Amino acid sequence: MEPLIRVHDLHKIYNPGENEVRALDGVSLEIQRGEFIAIVGHSGSGKSTLMNMLGCLDVPTAGSYFLDGQDVSHLSDNQLSDIRNQKIGFIFQGFNLIPNLDALGNVELPLIYRGMGRRQRRKAAAEALERVGLKKRMRHKPGELSGGQQQRVAVARAVAAQPPIILADEPTGNLDSHSTLDIMNILKGLHQSGRTVIVITHDDDIARQADRVVRIMDGHIEADYLNRENHADKKRNTESEREDISHGIKKEQ
Ligand SMILES: Nc1ncnc2c1ncn2[C@@H]1O[C@H](COP(=O)(O)OP(=O)(O)OP(=O)(O)O)[C@@H](O)[C@H]1O
Ligand SMILES: [Mg+2]
Repeated sequence: MEPLIRVHDLHKIYNPGENEVRALDGVSLEIQRGEFIAIVGHSGSGKSTLMNMLGCLDVPTAGSYFLDGQDVSHLSDNQLSDIRNQKIGFIFQGFNLIPNLDALGNVELPLIYRGMGRRQRRKAAAEALERVGLKKRMRHKPGELSGGQQQRVAVARAVAAQPPIILADEPTGNLDSHSTLDIMNILKGLHQSGRTVIVITHDDDIARQADRVVRIMDGHIEADYLNRENHADKKRNTESEREDISHGIKKEQ
């Protein structure tokens, strides 16, 4: 079967010419449907640049990208934005929440772009917030929420439309260990419900929780390996993990 993501010899050069930066320098990568994958590497190695390409936020300088069998490396801005709306939920490190909208309004926003009707939108947004344990905070604006709660709003916003792909860039950066655990449990739950989850991180503890790790260095892939213990434990742990997940999501609203 055609992989969900197939990238071949991808290059991204910023400022071509004398001061050029080869942020991606020949990346080839296949990601199957339903994988839970961590992209790791030092600061400046090209992780966010790769996420921008995979998320159709930007186009490569050279190379090919097939998403769901469709060549997306030469599409117009409008076409790329359609693909993003249909297929991808983004979680950014800085949350990117709109300060004067409450949690519900923030989660609803991408659903408007998707053309969802008002009632359906409200319902989907409320359900997503409930799933991340924020039922009692729906009417709060970002400034009235803790960092961990804001990040959970960002997660709810990414998943409300039930996109098949979740792309998260340092989703637990700046969070304490408790909030980090919550976010990771939510991401694991999304993976278990069949989504393809791609997490960018420089935290090895986070990377160990993914099934597969891709390590980037200087714009190319330095290593690509499976976390075997996660695979082996998967069947055995499914039940207890589910409990952990619902616990993680429901506790502390
Ligand atoms: N818009 C831009 N213009 C010029 N250079 C850029 C641009 N964006 C990123 N770069 C450069 O490309 C390289 C890769 O950047 P990128 O943001 O992908 O790194 P990263 O791995 O995400 O790092 P971090 O862990 O610090 O977020 C860096 O050297 C960076 O300075
Ligand atoms: Mg980055």
